[in-house]
Amino acid sequence: MMVSTSSLLAYLVLALSIVAVHGKQHSLERRSSKHSASAATLHSRQATSILQSEYKNGDTPPGARSGDAAGQVVEISDNGGHNDNSQRAGCETIFIGGAAVGGSYSTGWTEMPQVLGFDTLRDLYVDGQVVQPYIQETGKDPTKIKRVIITQPGLPRDFWKYANLVRNSLLCWSTNTTANINLDEIMIAAPAYVNTNDRTAGAAQANDLLFSGQSWSTGVNSAGPDQTKVSSFQVLDLMTAKYFNKTAYPALNQIVIAGHSLGGSLTQRYAMMRKATADDVNLSFFVGNPGAYVWPTSNRPVQSPSDTSCSAAVNDWPYGLQSTPAYDSAEVAADLAAVQKRYYERNVVYGLGLSDNELGDSHCEAQYQGNSHLSRGQNFEAELKSLPGGKPSSQKFNYVSGVAHEDYLIFSDPVSQYYLFSWNLDQRTQTSSTSSTSSAPKSSSTSGGNGSGSSSGSSSGSSSSPGSSSSAGSSGAASSSLSASGLILAASASLAGAAFLL
Ligand SMILES: *[C@@H]1O[C@H](CO)[C@@H](O)[C@H](O)[C@H]1NC(C)=O
Ligand SMILES: *[C@@H]1O[C@H](CO)[C@@H](O)[C@H](O)[C@H]1NC(C)=O
Ligand SMILES: *[C@@H]1O[C@H](CO)[C@@H](O)[C@H](O)[C@H]1NC(C)=O
Ligand SMILES: *[C@@H]1O[C@H](CO)[C@@H](O)[C@H](O)[C@H]1NC(C)=O
Repeated sequence: MMVSTSSLLAYLVLALSIVAVHGKQHSLERRSSKHSASAATLHSRQATSILQSEYKNGDTPPGARSGDAAGQVVEISDNGGHNDNSQRAGCETIFIGGAAVGGSYSTGWTEMPQVLGFDTLRDLYVDGQVVQPYIQETGKDPTKIKRVIITQPGLPRDFWKYANLVRNSLLCWSTNTTANINLDEIMIAAPAYVNTNDRTAGAAQANDLLFSGQSWSTGVNSAGPDQTKVSSFQVLDLMTAKYFNKTAYPALNQIVIAGHSLGGSLTQRYAMMRKATADDVNLSFFVGNPGAYVWPTSNRPVQSPSDTSCSAAVNDWPYGLQSTPAYDSAEVAADLAAVQKRYYERNVVYGLGLSDNELGDSHCEAQYQGNSHLSRGQNFEAELKSLPGGKPSSQKFNYVSGVAHEDYLIFSDPVSQYYLFSWNLDQRTQTSSTSSTSSAPKSSSTSGGNGSGSSSGSSSGSSSSPGSSSSAGSSGAASSSLSASGLILAASASLAGAAFLL
């Protein structure tokens, strides 16, 4: 391939600046700088550069192995991340395409695709011989890992998509001179929840934990195999314990659980329900554009939605803290205030698109929370602000301008990247103070919001330290510069017909 002088120069300058700034370099880039003189080698299976300038559309990405599912090629396009299958504008790194997979989320997946750069593992025993399958990045040295990001799937149980999106965001962030991270020290993993349809269609093996419908997202007990009753919350307990094990992962400081849409809802539900452990201070939750929330109080921002048929049940799980799953219904019954306090003290980052005006979860109970993903998030923040003592500092809101219900643009926003990959990277114990060594990048936009659906795009000039989500209030005129209808179309087209629970 032809490499233009200017792009090669840009690449060399970038590579040098990374070396200069951090003094440590991930092997991928280190190897690639050796190869940069010989563009031809970058197109072989041994290619190791992660910079777009070294590739053309459709090339084989670094780390490819035989058996990888189709579709996982270098995607270079001018979509700027809006189609969930291209790199965000401004990132110089490649975007690795999404895996092709047989079947469908409604009739069941026929296979678990081999995700490029990940191993599929079945060693997480959840009950006797029953396992929760999961994927984990290949070839990373457990003794070096400081941080694990556990991604959650969306409505289609598409673990392959979200592990890949977060990996692409991580690649992008790794070349950002403000990031100061080393790819050898950060690992992505993802549970591969399967349901009974996937068992019928072929993706699930005989001893894989099986959920019914979407019950993996609510923490309700599994539907098999046989009489197995295990909650996805127990799965996440076991996965976090696996990585918090100091014998196996001696350098581990932090685990982040991250999801978008229904995966964001699962993440927020787990943050609400997870039983307290000593490790919790080292755990954070990244909640992207959820369809609805577990509201910690019985207050609701909307009093009279058009559908009031559920008025007696608006506080029922998973919309509130009544009738919670067996996983910890006893704790809720014993001391609701303690459960609320536990949530408020957890490290939760909400990533919300200022153009995400989609309805989200269409259930009656969700209508009491707001009329769109965005307004529900703004209302949730307003509820936290109204607590005695105000919004807990461990709860952070990042409103991203120009972004609709677009997974990748939430995960690849620089503020998101900071919280996903850099925040407290070297700290074993998080505190709720703002004592982090590196400062958070400024939010693209912040807003206090009250559910009017308006977005305050005013980037306040005040510095946005990790602890603050400088509330700009909802005064400003909407100024989401990119909120063209095209974005919303792109987002709704990608999951047409599946939007009711997102
Ligand atoms: C922690 O990891 C070590 C080393 O892999 C393993 O032997 C041990 O059983 C693990 N501990 C627990 C509680 O799983
Ligand atoms: C997390 O922080 C707590 C509290 O300081 C500490 O006791 C624990 O060892 C930490 N756990 C890990 C896995 O670093
Ligand atoms: C690098 O991160 C900063 C925030 O720390 C952000 O403003 C900038 O846009 C990022 N650069 C790229 C190329 O993403
Ligand atoms: C919400 O904010 C909008 C825009 O600032 C304002 O017009 C409206 O009155 C507010 N609604 C409530 C219920 O506070």
